[in-house]
Amino acid sequence: MFHCPARLHGPKQIFLLVFLLACAFPGTAFTSGDKTGILLVAFGTSVPEAATTLDHIRAAYEKAFPGCPVVMAYTSRIIRNKLDRGGIHVPSISEGLDQLAKNGALVVRVQSLHIMAGEEFAALARSLLLNIKGHPGRFRAVYLGRPLLESRADARAVARAVLGFHRKKGAAPEALILMGHGQEQGRADLIFEGARATFRENDPLVFMATVEGARTFDDMLKDLGQSHVKKVVLAPFMLVAGDHARNDLGGAEDDSWASRLKAAGYDVEIRLNGLGDVPGIDDIFIKHTKDSTDDLMLEPQKP
Ligand code: CO
Repeated sequence: MFHCPARLHGPKQIFLLVFLLACAFPGTAFTSGDKTGILLVAFGTSVPEAATTLDHIRAAYEKAFPGCPVVMAYTSRIIRNKLDRGGIHVPSISEGLDQLAKNGALVVRVQSLHIMAGEEFAALARSLLLNIKGHPGRFRAVYLGRPLLESRADARAVARAVLGFHRKKGAAPEALILMGHGQEQGRADLIFEGARATFRENDPLVFMATVEGARTFDDMLKDLGQSHVKKVVLAPFMLVAGDHARNDLGGAEDDSWASRLKAAGYDVEIRLNGLGDVPGIDDIFIKHTKDSTDDLMLEPQKP
């Protein structure tokens, strides 16, 4: 039978205890003495009004994590290059991690500002892992916070926040049409359908479709026809009201959702508010940041 010498056994047990505490109470990372930095990651936008939505989210993080440096990174190289040409530099993921390291952060909490764990979120995780591999020992822990819609509880909280924002009590019945992004590969289609079902349980006059996902505008239009409402409110189901909201949803071209709905005889109102403008959405992201125990630097521990 193998016995560990006591002098080796002790420190190992202490290490294990500390490790378990850190896993069970990720909040300790904020008080353990290791400086924590926050990296918020969004696709990005070159629309200045939409960028103010991201500024509000950053401000909410600075309030929620006092004293922690908060950096916002954009993943879209096209958008970062476009902003650079106008004199605005927004860091990439790796530049954001560099900034936090320079700021003395030893623990990094990365928060995906994606709506669902689709292609963009998978790419974020891969970028982080490659970055950690390229800079061994730079950070002690890198936690990854999951996107907005992960659980049934998230879907309910999002529906509550969005309906609270858009629905006025006692108003005449009108349809609320939400435009999600979606992906051709179908990666987030099921999360989208789960969110749609949750919205419909709360309000049968919510109609949702995507720009690129399986559920199309035509599917939505068919559904809407059954409701016999005349007035429709359009809003993006995306973090910011950027290019998709201003062109594909509310644009003046014949093929925008607003134009097609007008052509179908509906009275259309466009609301250019991204989900990030809806009170309560930032709290869900912040909860995911605090709750994350996914330290990308540790091999997952299976019992
Ligand atoms: Co897009």
